[in-house]
Amino acid sequence: MRTIIEPFRIKMTEPIKVTTRQHRERALTAAHYNVFLLDAEDCCIDLLTDSGTGAMSNNQWAALMLGDESYAGSQSWKKFESTVKNITGMRHVLPTHQGRAAEGILAQVLVKKGHVIPNNSHFDTTRANMEFAGALAVDLLCKEGMEPARMAPFKGNMDTDRLKECIRQYGAENIPFCMITVTNNTGGGQPVSVANIREVKTILTAHNIPLVIDACRFAENAYFIRARENGYAETSLLDIAAEIFSYADAATMSCKKDGLANIGGFLVCNDDRWAEQFKNMLILREGFPTYGGLAGRDLEVIAVGLMEALDYDYQVYRHATVQYLRKKMEPLGIPMVRPVGGHAVFLDARAFLPHVPPLQYPGIGLVNAIYLEGGIRCVELGSVMFGKFDEQGNEVAAPLELVRLAFPRRVYTQSHFDYLAEVIEHVWHHRDAINGYRLTYQPNFLRHFTGHFQPVD
Ligand code: F0G
Repeated sequence: MRTIIEPFRIKMTEPIKVTTRQHRERALTAAHYNVFLLDAEDCCIDLLTDSGTGAMSNNQWAALMLGDESYAGSQSWKKFESTVKNITGMRHVLPTHQGRAAEGILAQVLVKKGHVIPNNSHFDTTRANMEFAGALAVDLLCKEGMEPARMAPFKGNMDTDRLKECIRQYGAENIPFCMITVTNNTGGGQPVSVANIREVKTILTAHNIPLVIDACRFAENAYFIRARENGYAETSLLDIAAEIFSYADAATMSCKKDGLANIGGFLVCNDDRWAEQFKNMLILREGFPTYGGLAGRDLEVIAVGLMEALDYDYQVYRHATVQYLRKKMEPLGIPMVRPVGGHAVFLDARAFLPHVPPLQYPGIGLVNAIYLEGGIRCVELGSVMFGKFDEQGNEVAAPLELVRLAFPRRVYTQSHFDYLAEVIEHVWHHRDAINGYRLTYQPNFLRHFTGHFQPVD
C-alpha cells in the first residue's frame, strides 16, 4: 500500500514562528501556566483545537465571494438550508454563530431546574449550558469508553443499561431530551455505532423522550461506521450521516468542525412547536432566522464545507494523519487512548505521569512540558476541565486525565507530524522530571479557559 497523500495542494502559505525554549518559558510564565492564555504566534504548531482552525478549499473561498448579505431570505441562506436539510433530513433549520449558541437555545427553551440530561459524554460547553439552565448533566458512556488502553470499535457508545437505570431513577418526566455526541470528543474522539444510536432511540421512544444529536463531528463518525460497522462498507458517508440523523428529533452542530468552516453552527429539529420557540430565542440571541449569527458569506462557506467533509477520500486522508502519529508513538510505549480518535490523539496523562496525583493535574503538567519542549500547544481534558466539587466543597478528580492533540483540518503536513512525534518522544524520555500544578485562580464556570496555575515543587 502506497503513502496516502494529502488530497490537495497548497496555494497560499501562512508563516509560523520558530521560538527558543527561553522565549517559551517566559511566555508560559506570563500566561500563568495556562496555554489558553498564550499568544497564538508563540505556538509554532497549534493543536489546541480542531474547531474553526481548518483550511478552506478553493471552492469555499470562491463560494465566500457569492455571499448574499441580504437581511432576510438571502440566496446564501437557501443554499445553507437545503444542504443542512439534505444531510440531516430535519424540517427546521436554525443557523447559529457556533455550536454552543445552538446548545444555549436548546437549553433555554427546553431545560428547567431539576431536569436531567443524559449524554454519552457532555462536551464542556454542552454541560455548562445544561447546568446553567438548572439541569443535572449525566454522562452514560459505555464501560470500554472509560478504559483508555482497551481496544474496541465504538468506544463512544452510550451504556444503554445505565440509560434505562437513569430513566428509572429520575423519571422520564424529568428528562426533556437525551443527547448523543458523535464522535465523543470528551472520551477520546471515539465513534458511536448506528446500532447503539438505534438502541438508544428505541429505549427513549418507549418513554416518550426525544433524542438530540450533538453532531459536531458527524462526518468523521460516519467514516468510522463505514470502516468498522457491519453492513456499511459500501454505503456513502452522506447516507450514513442521514441514517444517524434519522433517529434524532433534533441536533446541535458546530460547523467549525465538520462544516470545515472557521465559524458557524446550527440547530435543527422536526417538531413545529420546538421550532417556533427556538426561532423566538434565535431572534433574541443570534439574529433573524435566515442568517442566525452568521454573514451570508459564512452560510455559503458552510454549505460547501459540510459536503466536502462527507467526501470519502478526504476522510481517508484525515484518518491517515491521526494513524501516522499513533504509529510513531506506539512502539515507544507512550500511553494513549486506543484506538485513536477521529480528530485527535489523546495521551493518557495519568499513565504518562503516574507520579503526579490527579488533583495536581497531570494533564496540565504534560501540556506545559510539550509546549516548553517544542512550542506545540495542546489541551488538558481531565480534572481541570471536568473536575467537580462534592457537597462538602471538596474537589473530585475526573475519571480520566487526558491530553488532546487535536488536528486542524487540512492544515499541517507530514513533516509537522514528524516534528510533533520527535517532541513527544523527548518529553516521554524525560517524564520523571515533569511536575504537577495547583490552581491559584479559578472562575465559577469553564475554569480551564481562564484559570491561573503555579507549578508544585
Ligand atoms: N460539542 C462538542 C462535542 C464539541 O467538541 C464542541 C466544541 C461543542 C459542542 C461546541 O461548539 O465551539 O462551536 O461552540 N469543541 C471545541 C473543541 C471547542 O476544542 O473540542 P462551539
